[in-house]
Amino acid sequence: MDPNRILIIDYGSQFTQLIARRIREERVYCEIQPPTRTIDWIRDWEPKGIILSGGPSSVYGEDVPTADPELLRLGIPVLGICYGMQLITFLEGGVVERGRREYGRAQITIEEPEGLFEGFEAGEQTTVWMSHGDHVVQPPPGYRIIASTPDLPYAAFRAEKWPVYGVQFHLEVAHTTRGEDMISNFVFRVSGCEPTWTAGSFIDTEIERIREAVGESRAVCGLSGGVDSSVAATLVHRAIGDRLTCIFVDNGLLRLNERETVERTFRRHMGIALEVIDASALFLERLRDVADPEQKRKIIGHAFIDVFEEAAERIGADARFLVQGTLYPDVIESLSVKGPSATIKTHHNVGGLKEEMKFALIEPLRELFKDEVRQVGRELGLPEEMVGRHPFPGPGLAIRVLGSVDPKRVEILQKADAIYLEEIRIAGLYDDIWQAFSVLLPVSSVGVMGDVRTYENVCALRAVTSRDGMTADWFPFPHDVLARISTRIINEVEGINRVCYDISSKPPATIEWE
Ligand code: XMP
Repeated sequence: MDPNRILIIDYGSQFTQLIARRIREERVYCEIQPPTRTIDWIRDWEPKGIILSGGPSSVYGEDVPTADPELLRLGIPVLGICYGMQLITFLEGGVVERGRREYGRAQITIEEPEGLFEGFEAGEQTTVWMSHGDHVVQPPPGYRIIASTPDLPYAAFRAEKWPVYGVQFHLEVAHTTRGEDMISNFVFRVSGCEPTWTAGSFIDTEIERIREAVGESRAVCGLSGGVDSSVAATLVHRAIGDRLTCIFVDNGLLRLNERETVERTFRRHMGIALEVIDASALFLERLRDVADPEQKRKIIGHAFIDVFEEAAERIGADARFLVQGTLYPDVIESLSVKGPSATIKTHHNVGGLKEEMKFALIEPLRELFKDEVRQVGRELGLPEEMVGRHPFPGPGLAIRVLGSVDPKRVEILQKADAIYLEEIRIAGLYDDIWQAFSVLLPVSSVGVMGDVRTYENVCALRAVTSRDGMTADWFPFPHDVLARISTRIINEVEGINRVCYDISSKPPATIEWE
């Protein structure tokens, strides 16, 4: 295990994942863990530094997440951000005042250009992002101010005898102009980490870990054709060779000709045993008349496992492991397993699994963000057409045919989507877009075609730019591209007479519609 690692304790801030991203960008490994981790667990994990995130609670509230005061005496550097700083204050005998919200940019003055502020000038002013309800009005004994604002004398402090820091502002968000310098100072100067976290080091460690976990058994991997499962499968294949069997399930909810494309790409590039199962009838039957998105996800997740279990039985009793391409945002967004952040949707691979499964899961990408997975894919030598593919959700078109799903509606959407993506590729925009797809709305609209009144489906187009799927902006298509796409869809896809373009960002919208 890489000894250079930072532990982030999540008190429920919407920015916790950003802290993790910023640290990974510095090429240092980090993990987000809940406040319920015991002091022994933390000691055993041996972090070089610990960050206490922000959060919605108030330190004087009831049943609020807290920390063992001993955490501040381990000799391991600690940085409290917002709620994290207030928690340090509370635990160490200072005073926090409730209320008096502050939200937006503020100018701090650096009072002590050392440690966290190494490389700054004394008296320098720098812009930071504030987002807090409570704030520190009296630092604990033995703490000194290292930055202030006219309204907030204790914008940042540090303990005199221990490597413990607190900042009231959010240094992890881009609006804090020199936030990266502060994070880098904490990680390298204060905590003494080395930048050792690279795709190559990840691959070596992970292959070893998989080998150990699987032992002499066999594993099956559900391939979707997307970058995540392809990278996961390749890693496991490197670890256990032909004891891995990949299964590609045609669930009837794929993009047009997807099955053929995936078969071709995988057989050619990966040299991994691949079994293709047509289970479309089963999936579509189970989804009949189901309109609720969460229900759809559960049904699909369970059906996948049923199909896998049956296939695994054919493969042999020692196929005890199931490989999944679950990513870090899936883990955090789905179940909030690692802290009190509110569950947004129980989606992705994680939420959709059956509780009683015959398989043990192998999720080699569980701690990675999408762009890191792409780096790992490239390092593993996967072709660019695979590594650069837009993400495609596990439940496929079932969550893009809004409302209840039937084969006819899936077919209409497949055709519209194929035209949309083809035109995006022709326009040379595919790689500028994080994800582009069409959605079939559960409304009909009136149109006129060749003097005849039509009453048909509405198709919404979505295209977003994003770094990691956590936040996203809608893509500003040139109008002529939009015009071509719309004309072609309406002319060529029977059943659609209206096309709309979705101009919502995430947040407050999500990328998918369901
Ligand atoms: P949202 O809609 O939450 O999507 O903004 C963020 C990213 O996650 C993908 N997504 C899913 N992937 N199973 C998946 O495997 C799902 O149930 C699921 N729902 C959303 C979405 O396509 C986007 O890339």
